[in-house]
Formats: sequence, C-alpha cells, structure tokens
Amino acid sequence: MRTNKKRFNIKGHFYISIFLLISVNFNCKEQENSKILYLTHCSPCHHPERFGISAPPLIPETLKRKKDGELKEIIKDGLTATNMQPFREKLSDTDIESIINYIRQPAGDIKWDINNIRLSKNIPKKKGLKIKPVLDLMNLFMIVEGGKGLVHFMNGDNFNLLDNVYVGPIHGGPKFDKEMKYAYMGSRSGWLVKYSLEDWKDAGRIRAGVNMRNIAISPDGSLLAAANSLPENIVIIDSKTLDPIKVIEAKGKPSAVYSLKNGEAFIVCFRNNKELWFINYSDLSIEKITVDQPFSDFFIGPDERYFIGAARNAKHISIFDIQSKKIVKSIETKGMPHLASAALWKQGKKYLAAFPHIGTPFLTIVDIDTWKIEKSIKLKGSGFFARTHHNIKHIWADSNTNTIQLIDKKTMEITNEVTPDTGKKAMHIEFTKNGEYALVSLWDKDGAVVFYDTKTLTEKLRLPFIKPVGKYNATNKKY
Ligand code: HEC
Repeated sequence: MRTNKKRFNIKGHFYISIFLLISVNFNCKEQENSKILYLTHCSPCHHPERFGISAPPLIPETLKRKKDGELKEIIKDGLTATNMQPFREKLSDTDIESIINYIRQPAGDIKWDINNIRLSKNIPKKKGLKIKPVLDLMNLFMIVEGGKGLVHFMNGDNFNLLDNVYVGPIHGGPKFDKEMKYAYMGSRSGWLVKYSLEDWKDAGRIRAGVNMRNIAISPDGSLLAAANSLPENIVIIDSKTLDPIKVIEAKGKPSAVYSLKNGEAFIVCFRNNKELWFINYSDLSIEKITVDQPFSDFFIGPDERYFIGAARNAKHISIFDIQSKKIVKSIETKGMPHLASAALWKQGKKYLAAFPHIGTPFLTIVDIDTWKIEKSIKLKGSGFFARTHHNIKHIWADSNTNTIQLIDKKTMEITNEVTPDTGKKAMHIEFTKNGEYALVSLWDKDGAVVFYDTKTLTEKLRLPFIKPVGKYNATNKKY
C-alpha cells in the first residue's frame, strides 16, 4: 500500500511538473505575443514602454480603476472623437484580452527627468480666434468633456461655447492667473496645458510627469507647480515660458499641491507620508513639517488659517494651523468625509461645511469653527460633490444616481431633487457667478450639461457632451 502510494505520488509530481513546464512556456510565449501585439498596434501613441506619448500611459497605476470589461470596450470601440480608434476589425477578442493582460503588468522604472520635461515642451504657432469674444471673464466657465479630453470655454451670461482645447484625461480643476489672462489645465498623463484668454488660443503645453495629480499657480501667476505620482515629485514651471525651473524629488506619493493665496508658499501633502511641505514662492526652499497622519484628503478653511486633513480610512481628522505650523486639534469621525469636495456657507456667525462621505450615502454638515457635527443626512447613494452659493437656498449634492438632491441650508432637510434623465448618472454641480443657474453633468456617452434655474428648479437648457465631468466657473471655483 505504502509503496503504491509513494509511486503514485512520484507519478503525480511528474505530471504536475510537466504541466507546469508547459504552462510556464505557454505564459512566456503568451507574454511575448501580447508584447508584439502591443508594440504593433498601440505603441505609436502610447509609447513602447507604455509611458504614453500623444495618448495616456497604459500602466497599472493609471488603469487600476478601469475593469477589464471597460478596457475591452475602449479597445474594441475606441473613444469617440479622439485619436483612440476602434480595434474591433483589427484584433480578435483573444488578442484584445492578451493586450489587456500585458498592460496590467508593471512597467518597470519610470524615468522622466528635467531633460525629458524640457524636450516635451510644445508651443504651437497658432493664431487665436479671429473675433475675440467679449464677456465678463469672471463668469467664464470651463466645461470638461471627459469623453473627448477637451476643455470648453463658455460664456456664463448667455451659455455660448467660445472655444475648446485638447488636454486629454483631465485631472483636478483648471487654474487661472489673477488677471484672467491665461487658464492652466493638468492631465492625468502629466501634461500641463496653457490657454490664452487674451488671444483665445492654445498657448502651449509641457509634460511635467507621467502620472499627475494636480497643478497649482502662485498668487502672482509666475509659477506653476505640478504634483506627480509618477515619478514621485513636484515640478516647478515658469508659467510665462513653460520651462521647467526645478524638479523636487519626493519620498512618497504627493496627493496634491495647493497654493496659499495669502501666504508665501505652495503646500504639498502626501498619500503615504506624514509630512506637509511648504515650498516658498520666492526661493523655492522647502520646509518639511511632520504631521500625525498622511493628508491624502484635505480641505482648506475659508480664510486659509487651517488646513484640515486625513489619511484614507482614517479614524480621525487633523486640524493643522497654518500660522503656527502645528496640529492643533484631532477629531474622531464616524465614516470618512470627503474633505476635498465640500460645500461651504455662512449662517449667521457660523461657518458651515457639508461633506459627502466616501463609500457611504451620507452628507455631514459640520461647523468648521468647532468641528461639531450639526447634522448627518442620508442620501440616495454615496455621492462625490456637494455645492452651494451665497445667493441660493439649497445645497446641491450628487448621489451617484440619476438624481441630484437638494438640502435646505436653514432646516438642513432634503426638500427637493432634480433628475435630468432617469437612465443616466447625474453628477457634479457648478453655479453661474450670481447663482441664478446650476449646471449638472449627465455622465454618459450620450451625455449633456443641464442648466437649472436655482429658484424655480426648472430646466432652462441642455447642451450635449460626451461624458461631461467637471464644470468650473471663474468666480465660484474654489478648489
Ligand atoms: C493613433 C493613436 C492611438 C493608438 C494607435 C492607440 N491609442 Fe489608445 N488612446 C489614444 C488617445 C488619444 C487616447 C486618449 C483619448 C482621450 O482623450 O480620452 C487613448 C486612450 C486609450 C485608453 C484609455 C486610457 C485611460 O487612461 O483612460 C486605453 C485603455 C487605450 N487607449 C488602449 C489602447 C490600446 C490597447 C491600443 C492598441 C491596441 C491603443 N490604445 C492604440 C490614442 C491611440
């Protein structure tokens, strides 16, 4: 019996080894094959090492939120109105699956130094719009059309679209200089794009990194700072010439860079590093301050006195005093508020903020002087954005459903809702300068931006866009 069993085991091992040999061999071949497919069909735009050239990088860091099914759809059908063409005729389902497998593999060391940055600069010799628009620039809108990688400029007084510029997969809100001469936009693939609001033209672009979080502009408009998570650094760029001035290496992934409007420095916070950096505008010297947790998500009080931050999945939020540069308070929280996208308003003497929660369907209203919770309101789903305006009665909150819910600021009760299209997700809200209209995105291939009268809550207009995301008004844009 014993020997039999042993013999069987040896035999078993033998078969398993053969099986493993065949499958390792198959995997190598498969890997080789998918690399060839990638290099033949994708590398001209997405770079042989997948860092991206004219198209975004195809690496796990940038693709992690996309499921295989979504990638398959993009590759098969392409992305409408972009250079990403459909491959359904050229590649079989098996080929596409094999390419998806390949782009899920780590890409190895990513090198993108100051020379790469410098060489990527491109200032087009373009004339601007022949007839320069005349408008109140403080009511200028930028509408991000995710499906086309475009930013549209719109006159907020009459909703006329004026021009647009290609940015690619856009991340974070656009920035303006104080005089509103230029708009600056950052793409997830690291491109920083400048648009002239005087000449109404694409004023140039430079690739500051391979994967970018966001950008900030110094109050005098002379410096731009790009926070990159690949490579991990902060790149300072001369906004006039778009030349890189300094690459500041970071030990940790920056979560964002922010410019203090009344202070002297850019502030950088990190996703996995318990530090805050102050980068001085005048000499770019860095002051590093240790805090009690990484500030992966943060919020800056209205007078720029306090910086409120929390790590992902944290049990408390930390309040950092920007003047004394110390943590002055730590507050326990039940479920994490999404600090970066709060609605802020004043009620009597109180400053209140409404935060949507990450992953749970609640909106929490907090007094931001005492950090006492005033009310927790259950929404239809867990939304991303809550917005209000000093001239309007409600907080408008998206809920990851087809509906935007409206909360009365005084009673703190949900009193109304708008559903622009029952079959499509409604998200992100922005107001015109005076708060008369609210703009809501219908996030869909066959999407739109829908304009509501904020008093009567009736629809005034809808403009079609492919997957419109953020909309930013020059006056109301706070973050
Ligand atoms: C002619 C240039 C070109 C070629 C060739 C090309 N793409 Fe693209 N691809 C693009 C552009 C441009 C975008 C970005 C479109 C936008 O602005 O949203 C893109 C976007 C993508 C995206 C979405 C990326 C993201 O982060 O959202 C995927 C996935 C993708 N391409 C896969 C592929 C694959 C796989 C191949 C090869 C089979 C390929 N592409 C070939 C130009 C190209």
